[in-house]
Amino acid sequence: MDIREALYTTRAMRRVKPDPIPQDVQKRILDAAIRAPSGGNTQGWRFLFVDSPEIKAKLGPLYRDGLGTVFGSIYKDRHDAAQADPEAEESKQFMKMYKSAMWLADNFESYPLLLFAFCQGDPTGASLFPGVWSAMLAARAEGVGTAMTSVMLFHQKEMFEILGVPQDEGWSFGCTITFGYPTGRWGVAPRTPAHEVAFRNQWGEDIGFEIPEPLWPDGK
Ligand SMILES: Cc1cc2nc3c(=O)[nH]c(=O)nc-3n(C[C@H](O)[C@H](O)[C@H](O)COP(=O)(O)O)c2cc1C
Repeated sequence: MDIREALYTTRAMRRVKPDPIPQDVQKRILDAAIRAPSGGNTQGWRFLFVDSPEIKAKLGPLYRDGLGTVFGSIYKDRHDAAQADPEAEESKQFMKMYKSAMWLADNFESYPLLLFAFCQGDPTGASLFPGVWSAMLAARAEGVGTAMTSVMLFHQKEMFEILGVPQDEGWSFGCTITFGYPTGRWGVAPRTPAHEVAFRNQWGEDIGFEIPEPLWPDGK
C-alpha cells in the first residue's frame, strides 16, 4: 500500500467483525511496531496482545466504566452541547464519535485482538507512541482496522492485575489498541486544515500557504 494512503485513511475504525486476525498478520504488525524510534533507542516498551475470551470478559466491564467516566467528566460539556443543539455541524461530528466510541465499549469482548502498550522510564509516553502508531499503520496496510483508546487508565490497577503486569518495575500504561476487519469502508480523516493549526517562525504567524482540501488522493 502507498504510504500516503495509509497516512490519510488510518482512522478510528471501531466497527469491526469478530473474525480472527491471523498470526502472520499479527507478526507483521508487531515487527513493524518495534522498528519505531524511542528516546536513546531505549525501546522501553512492552506490547501485550489479548485474544483470550476470558481475559476480554474481565476487562470489558472496566472499559465500559472508564468510558462512562470520560463522557461524564472530560467530554461532559461537549456531550451536553451536542444534545442541546443536535443540528449544529460540531454536534453531529461529536455524536458520530460518541456513538462509535459507545459501539466499541458495548462490543469490547467481540474484538478479535487487543493490544495493550506499556512503557518504562518515560512517564510522557513519547517513546511509546511512535511504535503504537506504526502498529496501527501496519494494520491498515493489512486491511485491519484499529482504534486507539486510553480509558483503561481509569482502572489501571485492576487491569495490571488481570494482565499480570508487574507493579514494581516502573511500567506505565500507554493505551489499548483494538484490531479487527472493518464492516465499513476506509475514508480520509476530516480535520481542521493544516494552515489553521500551524505557524511559521513565530506563534500565530501565517504558515505561508493554504491547504483547503486534503492533498491525497486528488492533490499533489
Ligand atoms: C491518545 C488518544 C486516546 C484515545 N482514547 C480513546 C478512547 O478511550 N476511546 C475511544 O473510543 N477512542 C479513543 N481515541 C480515538 C479518538 O476518538 C479518534 O482518534 C478521533 O475521534 C479521530 O477519529 P477519526 O480518525 O476516525 O476521525 C483516542 C485517540 C487518541 C489519539
